[in-house]
Amino acid sequence: MHIQNVEFLVSAVSPAQYPEPLIPEIALAGRSNVGKSSFINAMINRKKLARTSSKPGKTQQLNYYQVEDWFYFVDVPGYGYAKVSKKEKGKWANMLQTYFSERENLELALLIVDFRHKPTKDDIAMKDFFVHYNIPYFVIATKTDKVKKSQWSKHMSEIYRTLNLETVDQILPFSAETKEGREEAWEIITDVLQG
Ligand code: GTP
Ligand code: MG
Repeated sequence: MHIQNVEFLVSAVSPAQYPEPLIPEIALAGRSNVGKSSFINAMINRKKLARTSSKPGKTQQLNYYQVEDWFYFVDVPGYGYAKVSKKEKGKWANMLQTYFSERENLELALLIVDFRHKPTKDDIAMKDFFVHYNIPYFVIATKTDKVKKSQWSKHMSEIYRTLNLETVDQILPFSAETKEGREEAWEIITDVLQG
Protein backbone atom coordinates (compact mmCIF):
# COMPACT_ATOMS: atom_id res chain seq x y z
CA MET A 1 0.00 0.00 0.00
CA HIS A 2 1.38 3.37 -0.96
CA ILE A 3 -0.04 6.24 1.02
CA GLN A 4 0.68 9.76 -0.14
CA ASN A 5 -1.14 12.14 2.14
CA VAL A 6 -1.41 11.80 5.89
CA GLU A 7 -2.05 14.76 8.05
CA PHE A 8 -2.22 15.25 11.79
CA LEU A 9 -5.61 16.81 12.44
CA VAL A 10 -6.34 17.33 16.09
CA SER A 11 -5.84 16.10 19.65
CA ALA A 12 -9.22 15.56 21.21
CA VAL A 13 -10.46 14.79 24.69
CA SER A 14 -14.21 15.25 24.39
CA PRO A 15 -16.67 14.60 21.53
CA ALA A 16 -16.95 18.32 20.76
CA GLN A 17 -13.31 18.19 19.66
CA TYR A 18 -13.59 15.10 17.44
CA PRO A 19 -13.49 15.90 13.72
CA GLU A 20 -16.74 15.69 11.76
CA PRO A 21 -17.50 11.99 11.20
CA LEU A 22 -17.51 12.35 7.41
CA ILE A 23 -15.13 9.45 6.79
CA PRO A 24 -14.69 6.17 8.70
CA GLU A 25 -12.15 5.78 11.46
CA ILE A 26 -9.89 3.12 12.88
CA ALA A 27 -8.73 3.32 16.48
CA LEU A 28 -5.65 1.86 18.11
CA ALA A 29 -5.89 0.60 21.66
CA GLY A 30 -3.35 -1.05 23.89
CA ARG A 31 -1.02 -0.83 26.84
CA SER A 32 1.12 2.19 27.29
CA ASN A 33 4.40 1.84 25.40
CA VAL A 34 3.26 -1.24 23.48
CA GLY A 35 3.83 0.45 20.10
CA LYS A 36 0.52 2.02 18.99
CA SER A 37 2.04 5.22 17.64
CA SER A 38 4.85 3.23 16.00
CA PHE A 39 2.21 1.05 14.34
CA ILE A 40 0.65 4.12 12.70
CA ASN A 41 4.04 5.37 11.52
CA ALA A 42 4.94 1.97 10.08
CA MET A 43 1.64 1.75 8.24
CA ILE A 44 1.98 5.13 6.60
CA ASN A 45 5.77 4.89 6.10
CA ARG A 46 6.55 7.95 8.17
CA LYS A 47 9.18 7.77 10.87
CA LYS A 48 7.86 10.40 13.21
CA LEU A 49 4.41 11.66 12.31
CA ALA A 50 2.82 10.01 15.35
CA ARG A 51 4.96 10.91 18.36
CA THR A 52 6.60 7.88 19.97
CA SER A 53 8.74 7.48 23.06
CA SER A 54 10.65 4.88 24.98
CA LYS A 55 8.89 6.27 28.07
CA PRO A 56 5.30 5.15 28.59
CA GLY A 57 2.46 7.66 28.59
CA LYS A 58 3.53 9.64 25.51
CA THR A 59 0.11 9.79 23.87
CA GLN A 60 -2.33 11.49 26.26
CA GLN A 61 -5.27 12.45 24.09
CA LEU A 62 -7.10 11.03 21.10
CA ASN A 63 -4.80 12.00 18.26
CA TYR A 64 -6.43 12.10 14.86
CA TYR A 65 -4.52 11.43 11.65
CA GLN A 66 -6.30 11.69 8.35
CA VAL A 67 -5.15 9.16 5.72
CA GLU A 68 -5.90 10.54 2.25
CA ASP A 69 -9.64 11.33 2.06
CA TRP A 70 -10.13 7.75 3.11
CA PHE A 71 -10.21 7.33 6.90
CA TYR A 72 -8.89 8.58 10.23
CA PHE A 73 -6.38 6.70 12.35
CA VAL A 74 -7.08 7.52 15.98
CA ASP A 75 -4.09 7.10 18.28
CA VAL A 76 -5.53 6.43 21.70
CA PRO A 77 -3.60 6.91 24.97
CA GLY A 78 -2.31 3.64 26.39
CA TYR A 79 -3.52 1.99 29.58
CA GLY A 80 -1.77 0.24 32.40
CA TYR A 81 0.86 2.85 33.12
CA ALA A 82 1.56 2.50 36.85
CA LYS A 83 2.79 6.03 37.51
CA VAL A 84 -0.55 7.64 36.76
CA SER A 85 -2.73 8.88 39.63
CA LYS A 86 -6.16 7.41 40.35
CA LYS A 87 -7.78 10.63 39.23
CA GLU A 88 -5.94 10.54 35.90
CA LYS A 89 -6.91 6.91 35.40
CA GLY A 90 -10.54 7.81 36.01
CA LYS A 91 -10.38 10.61 33.43
CA TRP A 92 -8.77 8.24 30.95
CA ALA A 93 -11.43 5.58 31.50
CA ASN A 94 -14.21 8.13 30.98
CA MET A 95 -12.63 9.46 27.82
CA LEU A 96 -12.28 5.98 26.34
CA GLN A 97 -15.71 4.86 27.46
CA THR A 98 -17.28 7.89 25.78
CA TYR A 99 -15.22 7.51 22.64
CA PHE A 100 -15.68 3.79 22.05
CA SER A 101 -19.33 3.67 23.02
CA GLU A 102 -20.48 6.72 21.04
CA ARG A 103 -18.33 7.26 17.99
CA GLU A 104 -20.62 6.50 15.06
CA ASN A 105 -18.00 6.29 12.29
CA LEU A 106 -15.67 3.93 14.19
CA GLU A 107 -15.38 0.90 11.92
CA LEU A 108 -12.50 -1.03 13.42
CA ALA A 109 -10.53 -1.19 16.65
CA LEU A 110 -7.00 -2.54 16.52
CA LEU A 111 -5.98 -3.99 19.86
CA ILE A 112 -2.20 -3.78 19.97
CA VAL A 113 -0.55 -6.30 22.28
CA ASP A 114 3.09 -7.18 22.86
CA PHE A 115 4.02 -10.36 21.02
CA ARG A 116 6.51 -11.25 23.74
CA HIS A 117 4.13 -11.22 26.68
CA LYS A 118 0.94 -12.77 27.85
CA PRO A 119 -1.88 -10.21 27.41
CA THR A 120 -2.66 -8.35 30.63
CA LYS A 121 -5.95 -8.04 32.52
CA ASP A 122 -6.38 -4.64 30.90
CA ASP A 123 -5.92 -6.16 27.43
CA ILE A 124 -8.62 -8.72 28.22
CA ALA A 125 -10.92 -5.98 29.56
CA MET A 126 -10.37 -3.95 26.38
CA LYS A 127 -11.23 -6.92 24.17
CA ASP A 128 -14.35 -7.66 26.26
CA PHE A 129 -15.32 -4.02 25.90
CA PHE A 130 -15.16 -4.26 22.09
CA VAL A 131 -17.28 -7.39 22.17
CA HIS A 132 -19.78 -5.71 24.51
CA TYR A 133 -20.16 -2.64 22.29
CA ASN A 134 -20.17 -4.68 19.09
CA ILE A 135 -17.10 -2.96 17.72
CA PRO A 136 -15.27 -5.02 15.08
CA TYR A 137 -11.76 -5.58 16.35
CA PHE A 138 -8.53 -7.25 15.36
CA VAL A 139 -5.49 -8.08 17.49
CA ILE A 140 -2.09 -6.83 16.32
CA ALA A 141 0.75 -8.58 18.14
CA THR A 142 3.66 -6.21 17.73
CA LYS A 143 7.43 -6.34 18.33
CA THR A 144 7.76 -9.74 16.65
CA ASP A 145 11.35 -8.73 15.84
CA LYS A 146 12.11 -9.44 19.50
CA VAL A 147 11.03 -13.10 19.30
CA LYS A 148 12.82 -16.00 17.58
CA LYS A 149 10.77 -17.57 14.79
CA SER A 150 10.94 -20.95 16.53
CA GLN A 151 8.96 -19.41 19.42
CA TRP A 152 6.26 -17.73 17.34
CA SER A 153 3.56 -20.37 17.48
CA LYS A 154 3.93 -20.63 21.25
CA HIS A 155 3.44 -16.86 21.59
CA MET A 156 0.52 -16.87 19.16
CA SER A 157 -1.34 -19.55 21.09
CA GLU A 158 -0.70 -17.84 24.41
CA ILE A 159 -2.24 -14.62 23.11
CA TYR A 160 -5.12 -16.52 21.56
CA ARG A 161 -5.89 -18.42 24.77
CA THR A 162 -5.46 -15.49 27.14
CA LEU A 163 -7.72 -13.19 25.13
CA ASN A 164 -10.20 -16.00 24.66
CA LEU A 165 -10.47 -15.33 20.91
CA GLU A 166 -12.62 -17.31 18.52
CA THR A 167 -9.73 -18.12 16.21
CA VAL A 168 -6.00 -17.55 16.03
CA ASP A 169 -6.67 -15.77 12.72
CA GLN A 170 -7.83 -12.77 14.74
CA ILE A 171 -4.16 -12.11 15.58
CA LEU A 172 -1.69 -10.55 13.17
CA PRO A 173 2.04 -10.76 14.02
CA PHE A 174 3.54 -7.34 13.35
CA SER A 175 6.76 -5.38 13.71
CA ALA A 176 7.23 -1.67 13.26
CA GLU A 177 10.98 -2.38 13.02
CA THR A 178 10.96 -4.93 10.20
CA LYS A 179 7.48 -4.05 8.79
CA GLU A 180 6.45 -7.67 9.28
CA GLY A 181 2.67 -7.88 8.80
CA ARG A 182 2.32 -4.43 7.25
CA GLU A 183 0.74 -5.59 3.99
CA GLU A 184 -1.59 -7.95 5.87
CA ALA A 185 -2.65 -5.10 8.16
CA TRP A 186 -3.50 -3.01 5.09
CA GLU A 187 -5.58 -5.90 3.77
CA ILE A 188 -7.52 -6.07 7.02
CA ILE A 189 -8.14 -2.32 6.95
CA THR A 190 -9.09 -2.27 3.27
CA ASP A 191 -11.52 -5.17 3.74
CA VAL A 192 -13.26 -3.47 6.66
CA LEU A 193 -13.51 -0.11 4.92
CA GLN A 194 -14.86 -1.65 1.72
CA GLY A 195 -17.33 -3.90 3.50
P1 GTP B 1 2.03 5.45 24.56
O1 GTP B 1 1.78 6.59 23.62
O2 GTP B 1 2.87 5.80 25.72
O3 GTP B 1 0.78 4.75 24.94
O4 GTP B 1 2.95 4.35 23.77
P2 GTP B 1 2.73 3.70 22.34
O5 GTP B 1 1.90 2.47 22.46
O6 GTP B 1 2.29 4.72 21.35
O7 GTP B 1 4.23 3.21 22.00
P3 GTP B 1 5.30 3.85 21.00
O8 GTP B 1 4.86 3.67 19.60
O9 GTP B 1 5.64 5.22 21.47
O10 GTP B 1 6.53 2.84 21.20
C1 GTP B 1 7.09 2.60 22.48
C2 GTP B 1 8.50 2.07 22.32
O11 GTP B 1 8.49 0.79 21.68
C3 GTP B 1 9.40 2.95 21.45
O12 GTP B 1 10.69 2.97 22.02
C4 GTP B 1 9.40 2.25 20.10
O13 GTP B 1 10.56 2.50 19.34
C5 GTP B 1 9.32 0.79 20.52
N1 GTP B 1 8.66 -0.05 19.48
C6 GTP B 1 7.45 0.14 18.94
N2 GTP B 1 7.15 -0.82 18.02
C7 GTP B 1 8.22 -1.65 17.98
C8 GTP B 1 8.54 -2.85 17.23
O14 GTP B 1 7.77 -3.36 16.41
N3 GTP B 1 9.76 -3.42 17.51
C9 GTP B 1 10.64 -2.91 18.40
N4 GTP B 1 11.78 -3.56 18.59
N5 GTP B 1 10.38 -1.78 19.12
C10 GTP B 1 9.20 -1.15 18.91
MG1 MG C 1 1.69 6.66 21.63
